Order: sequence, then C-alpha cells, then structure tokens
Amino acid sequence: MTPALSSHEMRALLRSLYRDTNRPTRELVAWRHLICPYEPVTRWVPPAANVLDFGCGAGALLALLSEQHQIASGTGCDVSNDAIAAAKAAQCRLSHDVVDFRHISDFEDIPADKFDIVVMIDVLHHIPPTRQQEAIHAAARRVAPGGRLIYKDMTSHPFWRRWANTAHDLLLSRQVVHYVAPDRVVRWAHDDGMTLVHAEDYSRFVYGHQLRVFLR
Ligand SMILES: C[S@@+](CC[C@H](N)C(=O)[O-])C[C@H]1O[C@@H](n2cnc3c(N)ncnc32)[C@H](O)[C@@H]1O
Repeated sequence: MTPALSSHEMRALLRSLYRDTNRPTRELVAWRHLICPYEPVTRWVPPAANVLDFGCGAGALLALLSEQHQIASGTGCDVSNDAIAAAKAAQCRLSHDVVDFRHISDFEDIPADKFDIVVMIDVLHHIPPTRQQEAIHAAARRVAPGGRLIYKDMTSHPFWRRWANTAHDLLLSRQVVHYVAPDRVVRWAHDDGMTLVHAEDYSRFVYGHQLRVFLR
C-alpha cells in the first residue's frame, strides 16, 4: 500500500473511518493489522484493479485501498449483517469512495462478474468442510483472465498456533473452525484453471498465516 502507513497511522486512520461503529468493532479493526498485516496481501493488488473481497468482514481492506486511491473499484461481500453494517458505516467516512459492500446469504450470491483481483482472507476456515472446495471454486471463477486470486488462511501447524487461532475464533466469532491444508487449496484452484505464483508462510505473535497467490 503506498504510501506505507506506520502502525500508529494505520490505527488512527481506521479509528477515524470506523468512528460510527461500536467500540469493540472499531478497536478490533484498528488493531487487526498487528496480527494479520495487510501488506503481504496488498502487494499483490496492482494499481487501479477491480477487486472482490470474498468474506470482507467489516471491510477494512477495501476501505484502506479505496481511501488510498489504490483500486478502481472494490466489492465486498459477507454473510454477516453486523460486519456489512460496519463496512457501510466506514464507507460513509471515506473521502475517496469506490467501494460497494453487500450482505449475501451465501457465497453463491456474490456477483457473477469477473474481477482483476479476488481476495479471500481468513474465510475458508469458517466454511464447513463439505463446502470448502465449492468456495474456492466460487472465488476462482470470478477471477478475470490475467487476474489473481489472493488466498490467505490461518495455519494449523504447529499445534499451538492452531490452538491459539481456534481459541481466538471461539471467543470472537463463537465458531469452531475447520482448517484446510494449503496443498488442498492449491489442488482445488489448479482444477479451476489457476496457477500458483506465490506461496508464503509467515507469523505474527502466536498467529500463523498461509498466503497463496494464483494467476488465471
Ligand atoms: C475471520 S473473518 C475475516 C474477515 C475479513 N476477510 C478480514 O480479513 O478481516 C471471516 C469472515 O468470513 C465470513 N464468512 C463466513 N462464511 C462465509 C460464507 N459462506 N460466505 C461469505 N463469507 C463468509 C464471516 O462472516 C466473516 O466476516
């Protein structure tokens, strides 16, 4: 993201954009980049891209990209009413608004358009195992030719990172989550005509991240 924001600047910007949301939401959004940094993801988003955020949560990624004039358009979809309400509240505070946040009842309701970039961050482990391949398929088929699918999820190895994230999700989303080995995601994406162009594993504190970038 250019210009790169310091952690302090990022928190200040996010607190300002989310000032109309309740305090827990605002603070979670403001601090999330410390455990889940944006930069490993945004470095794969070319300037002026049309971006779909599949499972956008409160929409902070698209809000930041829009506010910093980094994208041509951003479409964020999520099944959570509360998350989309927060995203829309932040959207009202953008000084440069190219985003559209939509509540969906299922990922099949995501617009069928093609996007330069589809991001899917920490969503797959919230989807039941029987539908995870379908979710990757839904994301992959929305990537335009020459476009990218940017997939990131939480690692399940070693066990203590899995426990840390499982406890985090139980506490915050009250959900038991279902980790997927990244090799399976790579296979599924490959079956959908996507080529793996980047694989990166990294961690922040107790949290482990697995990033995979695919090209159509
Ligand atoms: C851990 S949050 C991540 C949110 C956002 N991507 C981020 O990184 O801040 C997981 C999100 O996935 C959403 N989600 C879960 N199941 C989904 C589904 N079937 N379709 C779309 N989104 C879903 C949840 O509502 C939640 O907002």
